[in-house]
Amino acid sequence: MTTSERPLGVMMVCLGNICRSPTAHGLLRERLVTAGLGDAVEVASSGLGTWHLGAPPDPRAQATAAEHGIDISDLRAQKITVDDLDAYDYVIAMDHDNHDDLMAMAEGHSDRQGRIHLLGDFSPQDAGRPVGDPYYGGDDGFTQVFEMIDRCVAGLVAALRDDLDSRASGH
Ligand code: 4NP
Repeated sequence: MTTSERPLGVMMVCLGNICRSPTAHGLLRERLVTAGLGDAVEVASSGLGTWHLGAPPDPRAQATAAEHGIDISDLRAQKITVDDLDAYDYVIAMDHDNHDDLMAMAEGHSDRQGRIHLLGDFSPQDAGRPVGDPYYGGDDGFTQVFEMIDRCVAGLVAALRDDLDSRASGH
């Protein structure tokens, strides 16, 4: 049984916070509930850009998620802040540009930089790979993005379970 004093925090980050990171947000919160970890991990998402602040996810991202039983219609775009780099235990970039931008935001703070990851690295099959930006492509891109994120989220749930277990046992 996993117990922890406070929930772990996971912040999913992309460029616009309307396609990839809301998809990752919705998938992770759903898979955590299925894994019995819904109360142990707090999930959020944000973007590095400001074009879509306050907007719901792109209709194509919502439709693709809904086809797979995931509802992301409640999410609204927000911008990542420096405070988020302290508040969240895992700050997870969708691609290498996002990763570089987050590392630059965290420059000079090794504790912040140590919490920044690439989503692909949570899936052996996808390690080192970006979740490509589907915004300017066709609907096909959204399905591929969803499937890659789903694989990575499965690995992330396992990593979070291990992290919660080791924190609960004091290691
Ligand atoms: P996202 O996709 O980073 O996956 O949310 C994008 C959405 C909007 C823009 C770029 C990427 N944009 O330039 O408006």
